[in-house]
Amino acid sequence: MTHDNSLADTDACALARHAADGLARTPKQLSSSWLYDAEGSRLFQQIMDLPEYYLTRVEHSILRDQAQAISACIAPGVAAVDLIELGSGDGAKTLTLLQKLMQRSAPVVYHPFDISAHAIAELSQRFASELPQLQLTPTIGDYFTHWPTPSDVNRQVAMFLGSNLGNFRQLEAVSFLQRIRSFLRPHDGLLLGVDLQKDPSIILAAYDDSQHITAAFNVNLLRRLNREIGTDFVLDQFHHYACYSPLDGAARSFLVSRTAQTVRCAQLGLSVDFAAGECIYVEQSQKYTVPMIDELATAGGFQREQIFFDAERWYAVVYLAAR
Ligand code: AVJ
Repeated sequence: MTHDNSLADTDACALARHAADGLARTPKQLSSSWLYDAEGSRLFQQIMDLPEYYLTRVEHSILRDQAQAISACIAPGVAAVDLIELGSGDGAKTLTLLQKLMQRSAPVVYHPFDISAHAIAELSQRFASELPQLQLTPTIGDYFTHWPTPSDVNRQVAMFLGSNLGNFRQLEAVSFLQRIRSFLRPHDGLLLGVDLQKDPSIILAAYDDSQHITAAFNVNLLRRLNREIGTDFVLDQFHHYACYSPLDGAARSFLVSRTAQTVRCAQLGLSVDFAAGECIYVEQSQKYTVPMIDELATAGGFQREQIFFDAERWYAVVYLAAR
């Protein structure tokens, strides 16, 4: 993503405020939303190709193998559909679905949103060559500020895939769904991709891979803090720790201080003491059961209409109707 200087400064300011606040808390915490700088995005691409990280592959297989049935949910009649993808990436997963969707009688307008200019450029190129008849209006930036204006004739269906909802805590997830719902009208919908509870060892392996790519992804957050706000984290003095508890269905990851040490940031006049073994809580990836999904949907102002699983029931793509 390319920034002009003022935007980069704004970002650095927000990151500085976030770090000063999060590192002063007990337990210390930093938000996973800051993991995706250029290097973090590159590492996340690698994560998606890991044998242990099943989420992307399984979600893609559901969208591919059940594209027909999912399309029927999105466009049941002849009414035109605005398909609004919240965080489209390069659109690889959506392509097959759109191919099927376009065989239906309802005209489709695809509105992919992503904060990565690079991802949107790639998407635009790919879709122009593979689906030239598709009406495409890509946007780089925040979907809530640029939400497409609903027309009288078009039904709106939002898409939030990739198990991204799992990064929110329960209450945040509810308000996020309510926020989406606030843009929609009754009979509009939301297609949601969520990871399901399963054998805990399968989930843990996805967040603690044998090639240590996830560890590098996590530690990269400290490298980013050093570069963007001038902290002096010594990277090899911290290590990645992941755990999964079947009690609450949350995979969590932490950065653990190997020793007692003090991290400083001259620019911010910050000094943070770590005890040996002390953790920074970085990420939560919630795994759901079907009743949990239903509860979340209802609290968010939706009703589950359909659910699509893979053969092993590791993952679900859910169609929620706005109530
Ligand atoms: C992109 C948020 C879905 O939580 O599974 C992958 C991010 N973190 N490995 C996830 C992630 C560690 C991922 N999401």
